Amino acid sequence: MSSAVVSVNGVGVRYRAYVERNSTLRRAAARGRLRETAVVVALEDVSFEVQRGETLGLIGDNGAGKSTLLRVIARTMRPDSGSVAVRGETSTLLQLGAGFNLELSGSRNVYLSGLAHGLRKAEINRLFGDIVDFAGVAEAIDRPLKSYSSGMVSRLAFSISMHLMPDILLLDEVLAVGDAGFREKSRSAMRELLARGGTVMVASHALRMMVQMCDRVLWLDRGRVRGLGQAETVIEAYTRSLPPAAG
Ligand SMILES: Nc1ncnc2c1ncn2[C@@H]1O[C@H](COP(=O)(O)OP(=O)(O)OP(=O)(O)O)[C@@H](O)[C@H]1O
Ligand SMILES: [Mg+2]
Repeated sequence: MSSAVVSVNGVGVRYRAYVERNSTLRRAAARGRLRETAVVVALEDVSFEVQRGETLGLIGDNGAGKSTLLRVIARTMRPDSGSVAVRGETSTLLQLGAGFNLELSGSRNVYLSGLAHGLRKAEINRLFGDIVDFAGVAEAIDRPLKSYSSGMVSRLAFSISMHLMPDILLLDEVLAVGDAGFREKSRSAMRELLARGGTVMVASHALRMMVQMCDRVLWLDRGRVRGLGQAETVIEAYTRSLPPAAG
């Protein structure tokens, strides 16, 4: 039997977005007479598997479909075609600040996130000190989140996700935001997660970090799989495909 914890089969995702072409149309739309929609194909016929204990990286240009793919695997979104099978109790999607209430304090947000992930208050009480220590935001924990730097917000988000002990950790461009010290800390926390049989999927534009971190990399190009294989090989192919930098 395969040890795949994530199987993605022929997945397609389309977004429908309202279009506003000009002010006349906008006025008409406001009156509810005319609504033009555009269909954006975010993923098309995407298939791959992720093995237990593996770190799979997602790379590709802005808009290539990386976040959409993570959303589908986290089941915050249903694909329009194809299927996704996920073996594992918990998976956590990390998008910067998603699910956080910026008006509330760091500690309130820790509790709300924990509850949203199905923890009981007593469990959160037990984890609270570790979460705050790991994030390194103890002195700011009673301040509203909107007073945090973006790095501090992502440290707290990452710390919460790690302490939820997911089987599959889904990371969307968060590691690159932390400072060097926190990045090292995150990496060792991820090694622990992998050592106990966990799996990591991480989308990022920090290609050098991805080479170091990932076993395999999936390259998305306008919603389609353009490459899948050993991290260094795929990242090299992606880099070669980029237009030469100006200057
Ligand atoms: N809520 C939405 N409504 C309409 N279109 C969307 C929505 N979210 C994403 N898209 C479109 O789907 C495509 C894929 O977007 P996605 O966010 O998955 O890309 P990405 O690879 O994560 O990009 P980035 O590197 O910028 O994070 C893009 O064309 C984007 O415009
Ligand atoms: Mg994205």
